[in-house]
Amino acid sequence: MVFQFLVVILMDKDLVYGLAKVLARTAPEELRQMFHIVINGCKNVKLQGVKVYAPGESPNTDGIHVQLSSDISILNTIISTGDDCVSIGPGTTNLWIQNVACGPGHGISIGSLAKDFEEAGVQNVTVKSVMFMNTQNGVRIKTWGRPSTGFVNNVLFQHVTMIDVQNPIVIDQNYCPYNKNCPGQVSGVKVSDVTYQDIHGSSATRVAMKFDCSKRNPCKGIKLEDVNLSYKNEPAAEASCANVAGTTTGVIQPTSCL
Ligand SMILES: *[C@@H]1O[C@H](CO)[C@@H](O)[C@H](O)[C@H]1NC(C)=O
Ligand SMILES: *[C@@H]1O[C@H](CO)[C@@H](O)[C@H](O)[C@H]1NC(C)=O
Repeated sequence: MVFQFLVVILMDKDLVYGLAKVLARTAPEELRQMFHIVINGCKNVKLQGVKVYAPGESPNTDGIHVQLSSDISILNTIISTGDDCVSIGPGTTNLWIQNVACGPGHGISIGSLAKDFEEAGVQNVTVKSVMFMNTQNGVRIKTWGRPSTGFVNNVLFQHVTMIDVQNPIVIDQNYCPYNKNCPGQVSGVKVSDVTYQDIHGSSATRVAMKFDCSKRNPCKGIKLEDVNLSYKNEPAAEASCANVAGTTTGVIQPTSCL
């Protein structure tokens, strides 16, 4: 297992247990190619002061991956990588992410979900006081466009700074590389109660906010509160909506499409 320039401050025995468990369960070769740190099947793990550095061009190297785990916190962490800074997989509940700087990389992603039909949901995720710098995405929810028992419920993204982020806010429920095995491109994942509060900074593309939800299971309870994103130093960024319902309060820039 190669952790390049990785600094982990061990907070308690649970962390050691968590990492050791992951290492025992997964072949190092496979792990090395996909993630730097994996929290899988764990409870009560705190990662704090972690630094993960990998080249921006390195494919499929998520910084920290969490799945099938509950009561996890990731604090005061810096991640530069070629893939997601943090990826949140099926069966994650009560996850707290705070004070994380991400970039380069693909942002913080819930997903990809619906890889399998029988899938546990993602519930109670808080991401607050995070910064994205020159990343492909900011805060993203991503599901395959195919049937699944999965869901995403009760997520809060709060106090987020975006600096030249290509897709600052995105829900993509039509993920289907090579258009294979996605009958009708309809995602079974139900996305509900996702709040975006105090999200500000700059988008590197015109579309700063994109909600592309499932035709069969439209996103519900999406709340935007004080979102201010610019594009090329102008407040002219755009929002795009499909199959989504929700509410807005406060300043919303780009003009909301909810
Ligand atoms: C999610 O949070 C709610 C409200 O805080 C709590 O009632 C519920 O038990 C949590 N869900 C899980 C799976 O822990
Ligand atoms: C949005 O942000 C820009 C640049 O940071 C700032 O100049 C502008 O006043 C903000 N708009 C509102 C309505 O807060």
